[in-house]
Order: sequence, then structure tokens, then C-alpha cells
Amino acid sequence: MEFTMIPIKRLFLSVTTSAALLAGGVTAEARDFRLGLITPPPHIWTQAANDFATELNEKSDGEHRVSVFPAQQLGNEAQMVQQLQTGALDMAFLTIAEMSNRVPDFGALYTPYLVEDIDQAAALLRSDAASKLLDQLPGGVGVVGIGYGMAGMRQVLSRESVDGPVDLEGKKLRITPFEPIRDFYNVVGAAPTPLPLPGVYDALANGQVDAIDMDFDSILILKFYERADNLLISNHMMFPMVGVVSGRVWRQLSDEDKSLIQTTMKTHLDSVIDRFQAQEKDQERQLRELNINISEADRSMFSEAIESWESIWSEKAPALDSLRQAAGELKGS
Ligand code: BEZ
Repeated sequence: MEFTMIPIKRLFLSVTTSAALLAGGVTAEARDFRLGLITPPPHIWTQAANDFATELNEKSDGEHRVSVFPAQQLGNEAQMVQQLQTGALDMAFLTIAEMSNRVPDFGALYTPYLVEDIDQAAALLRSDAASKLLDQLPGGVGVVGIGYGMAGMRQVLSRESVDGPVDLEGKKLRITPFEPIRDFYNVVGAAPTPLPLPGVYDALANGQVDAIDMDFDSILILKFYERADNLLISNHMMFPMVGVVSGRVWRQLSDEDKSLIQTTMKTHLDSVIDRFQAQEKDQERQLRELNINISEADRSMFSEAIESWESIWSEKAPALDSLRQAAGELKGS
């Protein structure tokens, strides 16, 4: 006869779980969670997801495991959000893009030149105004927002030389698929072409797009500069990420597990912000040292586009006021 060894703590938990369920309560239960994200294995977001998985396993004495699925293995972000809504997926690290498609207030985080640099972006994402937005996620998307991470400030990398926004007119310009950035490039006069991150290298290589909206880190680690060697350093937008847990899954968790997941995931999301902040200047230097053409643009060169963008989004995203105020305080400080 074969015996299957069940760890004592798991056995104990399953007995206490059954007892608590009979009594109508929710108690700790060993779980195998799945966490999805679109970034490839070397990306900081994926590293943070793996570190979170390791730490949650350790802190729960081996009870909870998290399998991380990077590089869109579970589908694109829209598909992952659907899986989170049904509870088929437990957790995800998502760009705010997909949130803003469902809760337009999140679009305010993509206001062009809302912040001047990565330090202000980090501080704004840690502000009460940004945290308050997360309260809309359970009702609006069916997920619980644990906290923000981010990628670097947005720049434009192009196959042909670009000295400023006028040179982008009519260009097929790759964007992450979401409305605020689509509207931004529409008012700039470009032809925004939505394309998720994993398809970008090939699209540049085969000429499907003329230019891409991207951050220093991805340009370097995914080697986009091999396919387009003109960089317009514009810092025109920040690029937040959010760590979420499925609302359905969340309701099944004990208070103890909720708190453990919340504090552990938050730590690793914070470390993503710290790492991007710490490396931004050095990555700019690395790109400047490559054999590529660099030009620079600032807010004044986009002023008409910003005015048009704000006329669309100040109505769609009322949170723009409180975020602008919080950002203004950071600029004054
Ligand atoms: C992008 O779509 O450009 C992107 C997504 C996730 C991380 C970095 C960049």
C-alpha cells in the first residue's frame, strides 16, 4: 500500500479550514497562487514578482506558493484582467494602461508632463492622491489594488531622425494599447499603433512601425536600439504599474493571509519604484554612450498637444485635479 505524506501543518490547516467553513468563517489555507505579467524574465517587474513569490513562501512557512507566468504566457493584459475577474488567475502585475481602459480616472496618471522626472513620478505614486485611485479597483475592475510599481519615464525611439514633435507627424508610432497615450499621439499628429511589449522588437525590425514609445530600461534590456537608432529624450509621461489580487480570490482569504500578501507584495512593488529611480540616470548615460543619435524635447515643444489632451481627459478623469495638485506640491518642494 502507498502512503502519501501530508505535511503536518497542511493537515492541521485542512482540519481547521473545514471546521471554520462549517462555522461560516474563513481561515488560513495553503494555496498555490498564480501571478501573471507581460514583462520578460530579465525585466525588473518579473524579478520583483519572483522575489515576492519566494518571500511569501518563506513567510508562510512553505504553505503558500506563487507560480509566476511572465511574458504574456497567460495572455495579454486584457485577457489577464478577465481571468482575474473570474478567479481563474489569482494575482497580476499590470500596467495602468489596462486599468485606465476600464476606470478612466486612472488615465490621469498619464497626463503629459504631470511630473518632470522619475523622482517626482516616484513621489506622486506614493502620494495619497494616487493611493486613493486604488479604491476604485474592486468596484470598477473586480480586483484589489495592493500598490504601485512603475517603469521609467517615456521616450521616443525612432528608425529615422526625430528632433521634436513635428517630426512625428504621420509616423506609425508604437504605443502600449491604452486610450490616454493613443489620444496623446493623435493630438501630436502621429499615427499611434497599439502593440503589446512582446511584439515590439519584431515590429521595429520588419518596419511595421516607424517609432516606439518606450522607457530607457526596455530600450536597453530588450535591445530595441539595434533596430532604431534615433532617441528623442522627452520624459513626456510616467509609466505606473499596479500589483493586484483577484477580488474573488481575495474574498476567500483569511485576514491573516490578506495582511501577509498585502505587506509582502507592497514591499516588492516599492522596490520596483526604488530600482527604476536609482537606475534612470545611469541608463540615460549608457544610451548616450551607444552609437545612436540623441535629441531632446521638453514640455514647451508639446504645449499645444498637452492643451488638446487635457481638454479630452479633464472631463473623462476627474482625478486629474487632485493629481495635478499633488504633483504641483512636489514641484514646489
Ligand atoms: C510597454 O508597453 O511599453 C511596457 C510595458 C511594461 C513594462 C515596460 C514597458
